Amino acid sequence: MGGRLRLGVNIDHVATIRNARGGAHPDPVRAALIARAAGADGITLHVREDRRHVREDDLLRLKAAMDLPINLEMACAEEMLEIALQVRPHACCLVPERREERTTEGGLDVAAQHNHVAPYVRQLREAGIRVSLFIDPSPVQNAVAQALGAPVIEIHTGAYCGAVEAGDAARAEAELKTIQAAAADAAGRGLEVHAGHGISFASVGPIAAIPQLKELNIGHFLVGEAIFTGLAGAIAEMRRRMDAARA
Ligand code: PXP
Repeated sequence: MGGRLRLGVNIDHVATIRNARGGAHPDPVRAALIARAAGADGITLHVREDRRHVREDDLLRLKAAMDLPINLEMACAEEMLEIALQVRPHACCLVPERREERTTEGGLDVAAQHNHVAPYVRQLREAGIRVSLFIDPSPVQNAVAQALGAPVIEIHTGAYCGAVEAGDAARAEAELKTIQAAAADAAGRGLEVHAGHGISFASVGPIAAIPQLKELNIGHFLVGEAIFTGLAGAIAEMRRRMDAARA
């Protein structure tokens, strides 16, 4: 196991900045093209119910402009399923969504919502779209993801990354162990394992070193860091740290 870890760059927050003024700048599609040139293996975006950052037209323009795999994060909602089936991205990652949350605060509780999630997994798979489930690091969630027939899970790394940012080494260590165990459990079930949420230069190393992981999805930190060093520079440095952790 191990090998090269793919980097999916999430461009949502380029659109957050654009939307602050309601115009066309900065364009998330331009950011995606820069990300591609800087070493991204895929582009991720989350069309939310309230369209607070990217919208359908961004997704369509991205599809037309991009030869990298597109990973659409979406809630289990009819409206989003229609968009996914129309646009047919390479992959869809099913995420929980509450309008009032600032970001995706926890994983999708597939254990509790099995019956709600199941038709979305089935219809996306039937359309030839690779489905992943964004879940908290938990063997129970893994088991349900497997039973649902999702080929991929994405482990929510927010608790670990939050502990790192807070300087709480003991909590970070415990959260990292939970993620490591969940990744090993998922891979043992034959699931492809991805991870993401809250990853920064400070937290990426120990995550990238988890040998079962195949892909990280990173957004907010890269867009924030781009203010200081440019988007290409931020992505290249993230890529370098991921590769160093795997070396
Ligand atoms: N993966 C998933 C499923 C997400 O919902 C998000 C946030 O949209 C990310 C990864 C990226 O998180 P961040 O923007 O904190 O890097």
